[in-house]
Amino acid sequence: MSDDTQAPLRFFVGLTGGSGHAYAERMIVELLKAGCLVDLSITDAGAKVLRHELGIEAGGRGELLRESLPGWLGPKGIDGALIERAVRVFPSDAIEAPAASGTSLTGGVIVTPCSMGTLARVTAGFSSNLVERAADVALKEGRRLLLMPRETPLSEIHLENMLRAVRLGAICLPCMPGFYHLPKTIDDLVGHVVGKAMDRLGIQQNVGARWQGFVEPAGDPGTSQPTLPRAGTEAPGAQP
Ligand SMILES: Cc1cc2nc3c(=O)[nH]c(=O)nc-3n(C[C@H](O)[C@H](O)[C@H](O)COP(=O)(O)O)c2cc1C
Repeated sequence: MSDDTQAPLRFFVGLTGGSGHAYAERMIVELLKAGCLVDLSITDAGAKVLRHELGIEAGGRGELLRESLPGWLGPKGIDGALIERAVRVFPSDAIEAPAASGTSLTGGVIVTPCSMGTLARVTAGFSSNLVERAADVALKEGRRLLLMPRETPLSEIHLENMLRAVRLGAICLPCMPGFYHLPKTIDDLVGHVVGKAMDRLGIQQNVGARWQGFVEPAGDPGTSQPTLPRAGTEAPGAQP
């Protein structure tokens, strides 16, 4: 993301109490690998879900997240020196953090996973913690706000709030992986969503597989499109 003439872009990544902290983990890792700087904050509910899903301790307000980062991201290929240089962590009540002001420039705000509660409060302009305030600032400044909601099934109010978010200028990218890239692992599923999110933010990425059309398996031509006859093999009278 950075070259010799440009300072690296800083993204604010907000984690909330939605399920799917694997998406947040991959997003943080890939942003850092892409040379971006990352500001991190987690909601109080997010800290509970992070502990439950990934076993990472963030404290009640995210005040312990900073010291948990090396143990969390180290095994994912992000070393302590990079964390030290590129990551800033703020508790949920740090309304004095740079991201709480529009004068602090960021490449964008990413909320992943985004709970329905945070979605509702963001679309209502109700900033009860730093994640919501950072999103509020992105909207008021006309900067990129990427919301990655996670809930199912969706009520009318959830759907209305997503529509409202998009109309307000946010990007709504649900944690909803596809299966056409033939995923084999959870990482493949998570990478599919995170890759699309990075594409949407204009960050160069090599995370998710790119669709190339139906690829014929080697030595077995035609099996990937069994309903389409190959040229010259149509039965008499068959329609093209
Ligand atoms: C294990 C667990 C999983 C949850 N998953 C979701 C979810 O996928 N989506 C959602 O909107 N809320 C989910 N919740 C509920 C939210 O955490 C809850 O509504 C919380 O108040 C959201 O607060 P926040 O928006 O400040 O993070 C979950 C809660 C728990 C404990």
